Amino acid sequence: MNNLVEENLKNTLPTNIAQGLESALAYLPGGKTAKLEKPQTEGLFNHILFITTATDRCVFRARRHVSNEAGDAYMQYMYEATGFIQNGGSFKLRNIADEVDFIKRALAAGLPVPKLIHADEDWMLIEYVTGKTLFDLLEAGEVKFLPKIVQSMNLAHSQGIVYADRWTGNEMIDSQGNVRMIDFDIEWFYEGGNDGTLEALEMAWTIFNAMRVTSNRDDLLNIVETEILPSLKVWGYDISKMKQFIAGLCNFYLDPNKPSNNWSLPTSLYVAMAEPANRLVSMFSN
Ligand SMILES: Nc1ncnc2c1ncn2[C@@H]1O[C@H](COP(=O)(O)OP(=O)(O)O)[C@@H](O)[C@H]1O
Ligand SMILES: [Mg+2]
Repeated sequence: MNNLVEENLKNTLPTNIAQGLESALAYLPGGKTAKLEKPQTEGLFNHILFITTATDRCVFRARRHVSNEAGDAYMQYMYEATGFIQNGGSFKLRNIADEVDFIKRALAAGLPVPKLIHADEDWMLIEYVTGKTLFDLLEAGEVKFLPKIVQSMNLAHSQGIVYADRWTGNEMIDSQGNVRMIDFDIEWFYEGGNDGTLEALEMAWTIFNAMRVTSNRDDLLNIVETEILPSLKVWGYDISKMKQFIAGLCNFYLDPNKPSNNWSLPTSLYVAMAEPANRLVSMFSN
């Protein structure tokens, strides 16, 4: 904490988070003089800080302790639009301890989640992944990584792990071109048991959102049709469930009355979505 900017950054944090950060910096070799940065975009549920020491870089992660009523309502509306809730599905925000458990389980299964450096009750230190989010790549028109992401999710599913909330902002491509998954604050449940519903939702969620956020919808839809859909069929995903989920998400985002707020993405990202959305839904129709 050696300059004014970082003192100011620290002062923007709630007291308990600032205390957690102090403990994290005390734990980390060279932490006392580390450089702190915020990511470019901040979500609703977490405090994320990048910590750079003389020798290493890592990520401090803690939950926001704000009331998330508006956010909860938004998510509830979105999940209901897919039909997931009405069919016995639900979601919840994990606390840090539960997220740490998830990360340990995923690491034990050999899945590409950040290494856990240290876990406390209310915060964790995890590996910093050098790379870009799928969201950033798609927004810039780079669509070729989607099949790799889908493959990586299938690998997780084959080990009984569903990441949840893969909306392109939580999937990264590292500097070697490998898939890395981050951010496991949301957990999905399904009362019908392990019948492939969550796995179908995960695939549908990612594919729909990739179409929604990319500036290159034509190329993306071609990749979905020629590469991704055939793989999903071979792997045994429930294509008709996926169709229902994708159609529901299309309706949600094209609904002029959908709840919207300051963390929603710009309208310009989905004004022209009706036609590609229909094309996507029809691909999953047979
Ligand atoms: N381990 C990590 N390595 C590199 N970047 C990260 C890491 N964790 C988070 N980020 C960056 O910070 C952003 C927000 O973090 P994320 O964990 O997705 O939380 P939230 O979505 O709640 O803000 C990510 O989109 C990513 O750009
Ligand atoms: Mg995120």
